[in-house]
Amino acid sequence: MAPSSWLPLFFLALYQLALPVEAAAKASPVVGNICRVDDAELFHVYYGQSFKVIKNSIDGKSYLLMQSNSRMAARTKYCTGRIKSFVVPLSNYSVDTTNLPVSFFELLGLLDNFKAMTSDQITSECVLKLLVIGSIQLVNKKDMQQLSQFTAHFISNVEEEQACNFAAFVPLDERTPLQRAEWIKYLATFTNSEVRANSVYDAVKANYICLTKVAASLTTKFKPIVAWVDYNQGIWSFAKESYKLQYVRDAGGENIDDTVSDNSYNISDPDDMDNFHAILCTVDVVIDQTYALDPAEYKLSTFLENMDTGDSSRFVFLTNQRLWRYDKRVYNSVIVDWFDGAISQPQLVLADLMEAFFPTGNYNTTFFRNLAKDEGVITINPELCDRSPSTPMDPTIVPCQ
Ligand SMILES: *[C@@H]1O[C@H](CO)[C@@H](O)[C@H](O)[C@H]1NC(C)=O
Ligand SMILES: *[C@@H]1O[C@H](CO)[C@@H](O)[C@H](O)[C@H]1NC(C)=O
Ligand SMILES: *[C@@H]1O[C@H](CO)[C@@H](O)[C@H](O)[C@H]1NC(C)=O
Repeated sequence: MAPSSWLPLFFLALYQLALPVEAAAKASPVVGNICRVDDAELFHVYYGQSFKVIKNSIDGKSYLLMQSNSRMAARTKYCTGRIKSFVVPLSNYSVDTTNLPVSFFELLGLLDNFKAMTSDQITSECVLKLLVIGSIQLVNKKDMQQLSQFTAHFISNVEEEQACNFAAFVPLDERTPLQRAEWIKYLATFTNSEVRANSVYDAVKANYICLTKVAASLTTKFKPIVAWVDYNQGIWSFAKESYKLQYVRDAGGENIDDTVSDNSYNISDPDDMDNFHAILCTVDVVIDQTYALDPAEYKLSTFLENMDTGDSSRFVFLTNQRLWRYDKRVYNSVIVDWFDGAISQPQLVLADLMEAFFPTGNYNTTFFRNLAKDEGVITINPELCDRSPSTPMDPTIVPCQ
């Protein structure tokens, strides 16, 4: 069914349910604060007196969130293909950590109710610490019985089998860095943390926009040309995800032109490699995002080997030492914080890229390391959690005039 055909019915149903609640709520309004979604495109939130509805365009579902002290909460439960209901604030929840950035929970200060996760392959020091001290347990992502103990189970893969308490959290599907970061508001609606979500997002966005303005003023006549490259099974290619291209523009760089970068280049084909090398000769900054089994072992020599080039002196990005990777923060030799902390705090990515495009030498990057300078990785461990896990993590604001 198309959303337009069922939504009016749904809201009619809500309306009928909500009437007595609204009357009761007049005396003591339950929803004190709201989030307005400004940038994200893939979800919307609607507020009633004692309930909220999130419409999620990725899984096509509406989430009816009923305040725990409302009469509706005691009487209503939806679990259909298109509507799910939850009682909020959630008293506890579990998380499928696959492609799901847990740093959003930290920024909101929600770790006290974070009771379980499906794997310890994450890059948050404080969530790892809670696992070590036993306040978070590991659960099997296939064990529906075990997962059903939690008020909500957050997932990112909406294609898999789902139980009634599953809720999709999918910031990675958005097109721009800020849109992805604004998904903090989506989580906040489940926990009545709207005030915190607004303040975190406002701070992140203001810092991001301030940096963008600084970056725009750094360019002289020509912007540095930037390429994200990727090597996989004998083939080099240029990455084209829109959020990466947006980062390059926002940090004052220019993406290599679509018309030259449309191809993939087979290292066994000399003509292909000539073309690839020729394009790279025109590039000022290269970001090598090639997957590494162990990022610490991925060095400049690894890159040169994969490039299959005898003479590296013809590449400006090498002679100028502008070859970067986004795997600086690593846990357990494999898991990279680029897929977690960098999603919720895009202002830090932007600041890193500005340092990569316009080096000052006095800014310590967070997620990027300079491969050309043989910068190594930083290993994450639970002992590096430097606050009480119950305390919300504050976003890191980069100095910007
Ligand atoms: C989660 O909260 C619900 C509702 O308060 C409760 O029934 C359930 O036992 C809790 N589960 C865990 C694992 O704490
Ligand atoms: C790359 O080229 C080699 C030699 O022509 C060929 O055998 C191989 O299948 C090609 N690889 C891909 C992924 O097309
Ligand atoms: C960068 O980090 C190093 C090592 O932790 C530290 O000594 C240095 O002061 C930092 N530089 C800046 C500009 O923060």
